[in-house]
Amino acid sequence: MNSLPLKHLAIIMDGNGRWAKERGLKRVKGHEKGAEMIRGITTYCATHETIETVTFYAFSTENWKRPKMEVEFLMKLLDRYLQNELDTYQEHGVRFQAIGNLSQFSTALQKRIKKTEELTRNNTKLTQVLALNYGGRAEITDTVNRLIKEGKTEITEEDISSHLQTPYSDIDFLIRTSGEERISNFLLWQISYAEFYFTPTLWPDFTPDELDTILTDYKQRARRFGGV
Ligand code: IPE
Ligand code: IPE
Ligand code: MG
Repeated sequence: MNSLPLKHLAIIMDGNGRWAKERGLKRVKGHEKGAEMIRGITTYCATHETIETVTFYAFSTENWKRPKMEVEFLMKLLDRYLQNELDTYQEHGVRFQAIGNLSQFSTALQKRIKKTEELTRNNTKLTQVLALNYGGRAEITDTVNRLIKEGKTEITEEDISSHLQTPYSDIDFLIRTSGEERISNFLLWQISYAEFYFTPTLWPDFTPDELDTILTDYKQRARRFGGV
């Protein structure tokens, strides 16, 4: 076994719209298929020997710019997803948590999120984090404002790391699907020493087998963290 740490995996699930377009389908069909793909990747992570947390980028603070109909569809899909996944979470020991500004979601959806978090809170095999209405800059700004409210006048890196909305460990490895090679405001603070992998595969085609292959690539890397 290798000694390269892999505790926290992050995934930017991109390419749902293009996947649908390639098939002459509406963009929302891509989202539907994309949501289905999360389960297999999550259960793969739950059985992986070192992964403790997997964070999926599901909706960014910028995604509100999309057509109203698509945004509404994504909200409904999220509600349905959480309802459908509960059995999988319980069966595979997955704790669900959300990060992002949830206050902009409907009360019903906020309740569904909270309820799913509560029902899965004692699961210990894996934490699955969904980033919902999430933006890296917003998260850092909120964190600093919270520290100021607590009376801090000088802020350390450790203060920020430990006061992030939910203080998970830093990202070890970040994967983005669909061939785009950018961060799109995801986890800006937590990726400072992350390794990156960009695959051309569109998210609805991304399988646990491909993830397994990509993790083999990760194992070969030398993470120096500034050392030699
Ligand atoms: C990612 O797929 C899903 C979300 C951002 C919600 P996209 O919808 O961005 O798909 P493309 O990039 O348009 O193909
Ligand atoms: C990033 O994908 C956000 C999510 C995957 C939720 P986008 O498709 O929104 O990002 P850009 O606009 O291509 O940067
Ligand atoms: Mg996209």
